[in-house]
Amino acid sequence: MGKDVIVACDFNTAEETLRFLDNFTEEKPYVKIGMELFYAEGPEIVREIKRRGHKIFLDLKLHDIPNTVKKAMAVLSRLDVDMCNLHAAGTVAMMEAAIEGLTRPDGTRPLLIAVTQLTSTDQERMERDLLINEPLEKVVMHYASNAKAAGLDGVVCSPLESPAVHETCGKEFLTVTPGVRFADGDKGDQVRVTTPEKARQLASDYIVVGRPITQAQDPVAAYRRCIKEFVG
Ligand code: C5P
Repeated sequence: MGKDVIVACDFNTAEETLRFLDNFTEEKPYVKIGMELFYAEGPEIVREIKRRGHKIFLDLKLHDIPNTVKKAMAVLSRLDVDMCNLHAAGTVAMMEAAIEGLTRPDGTRPLLIAVTQLTSTDQERMERDLLINEPLEKVVMHYASNAKAAGLDGVVCSPLESPAVHETCGKEFLTVTPGVRFADGDKGDQVRVTTPEKARQLASDYIVVGRPITQAQDPVAAYRRCIKEFVG
């Protein structure tokens, strides 16, 4: 399982997204659809990208009472996405309910990945706004352990955190890692970045790459470079 490049299609219309995907005539990249595109275009954009043969990571980061999350996950499961996610902060009970909702009558289900602490949250904000007074890394590992205990498949984290997550939760617990840039590329607003090759060395299972591919002069060449560096 795993070892794939997920292309973050951070466009806000179906038209732009499908035009971008039309560049790929040989490969069918794994696609990440986020809130912006999903809220703009609804489930039909998921169905259309599935019809074109892509795998989909639907990045909606659910967080609500267990019963609501369970019912929402059942809907996502019927949409036939391959991976979806939620906030580990919703508690173990919410994550267990999510798994229940996601599991189809035949026992199969999409992969379910937890967000631990968003990278926009730093130590100071966590202490001040959330009254969590433990070191950030300890909080991330605790949330990852909770996700594993609830039966989830992995977490979203920085490639730099992949080794610690694997040490805490086991090698088969997936790390899905954004913040990836080519060594000679523009970092944009990402601060702690890692190359696809370094992410492979750090044993990330999936890398999520947006602008280095979507904004490239030649997106297919950039995608192939990612695959070559990360998957080999
Ligand atoms: O364009 P770029 O490669 O920075 O895109 C990374 C993608 O991963 C974006 O969709 C971004 O929202 C997402 N992401 C992130 N950092 C996180 C979680 C998600 O960059 N901690």
